[in-house]
Amino acid sequence: MIQRAGDAVTGSGGVAAVAKENLLLRARDLRDDLGRWRRHLHAHPELSGQETETAAYIAAELGAMGLAPRLPQPNAVVAEIGADPDGPTIALRADIDALPIAEETGLPFSSRRPGVMHACGHDGHAAVLLGVARILTARADRLRGRARLIFQPAEEVPPGGARELISAGVLGGVSAVIGLHLWCPLPTGKAIVVSGPAWAAADRFRAVIHGRGGHGAKPQEAVDALEAACRCVVALQSIVSRAINPLDAAVVTVGTLHAGEAFNIVADAAVLEGTVRAFDEDVRRLIKGRIAEVLAHTAAAAGARAELDYVDGYPVLRNDAKVAEVMRQAAGRYLGEKAVGDGPREMAADDFARYAECVPGCYMSLGATAAGRPGYPNHHPHFTLDEDALPVGAAILAETALHLMQRRA
Ligand code: NI
Repeated sequence: MIQRAGDAVTGSGGVAAVAKENLLLRARDLRDDLGRWRRHLHAHPELSGQETETAAYIAAELGAMGLAPRLPQPNAVVAEIGADPDGPTIALRADIDALPIAEETGLPFSSRRPGVMHACGHDGHAAVLLGVARILTARADRLRGRARLIFQPAEEVPPGGARELISAGVLGGVSAVIGLHLWCPLPTGKAIVVSGPAWAAADRFRAVIHGRGGHGAKPQEAVDALEAACRCVVALQSIVSRAINPLDAAVVTVGTLHAGEAFNIVADAAVLEGTVRAFDEDVRRLIKGRIAEVLAHTAAAAGARAELDYVDGYPVLRNDAKVAEVMRQAAGRYLGEKAVGDGPREMAADDFARYAECVPGCYMSLGATAAGRPGYPNHHPHFTLDEDALPVGAAILAETALHLMQRRA
């Protein structure tokens, strides 16, 4: 089945050779190592931008496999496998940073750093990519191309770690990029591979509403920044409901609003912050423009003035149709075709999007919630990933990379 479909995608006779070996069996042999890597990283989480111990650990493990990892920066690791100069180079990316969350799982290998936790599964992503390294190094002399493993820092905090690595040339000569996110509460054994826009663009904004303070008893002599800010929050909600095509998905969320010092004083200023999500760059631009207009005019209507700071975050993560098809086939081989969905898309964002802007790519969501477990979502203090998902992820990534290497331009 996989051979037929693979041939159709790649147009290469070499696919059959790739598919002979069951990489999931191979990955399951690595279960102890996968668990060991993941648990070490879980116990020693590091925040975005500070992943130097994490990078050193990963580099040491890769070195022990006979690879020659390099650190383009102290908290990032890149390693290359295979030497075929004529074959394509396939990049595989794992993010390695943790979150400022106090862990409450009670696991024996819980975070040893108070207030820092691998609550988004990036410990698992790094372990999966180390597993891929094992699988591919065992057949390095037979590879029909090269695999470039990218262990990337700072995914959680825009502008994200991908941008700097790309600027440093990490995608040089790369013909496709792949990666995965372990996802809860998606059950272990399920995967989602979306063709086209898969994860949303995410921006943030901060607005200061300037009024004029005064006595609470004499509003006519003041400009109430708090009241103006409230109008702004309500007016911003009209953007998605009135300005966006109902068939386009979009979010405008105001997450914070701070104003005022005392109950009987008219607030001089108010600060609100929010996030924007969209799957289409035109929709994203439209929202950005409307936010500026709505804030300016709504504040003006209240006699106040709005000062907007809008920060472009991660772009839309767009999966390439052909790469997605190869990945879907690989996932289907090990999970069964029916276990691989083509949705739903994610309103969350990931800076894998930056790689996929440069070269054809695909980012898969892989279920990592054990049957019967509560399945706390990513970023929750009780978040726990099912380690049975680790060999599955390694097998699918390795298989996808091998198939992509069969493709000749
Ligand atoms: Ni994440």
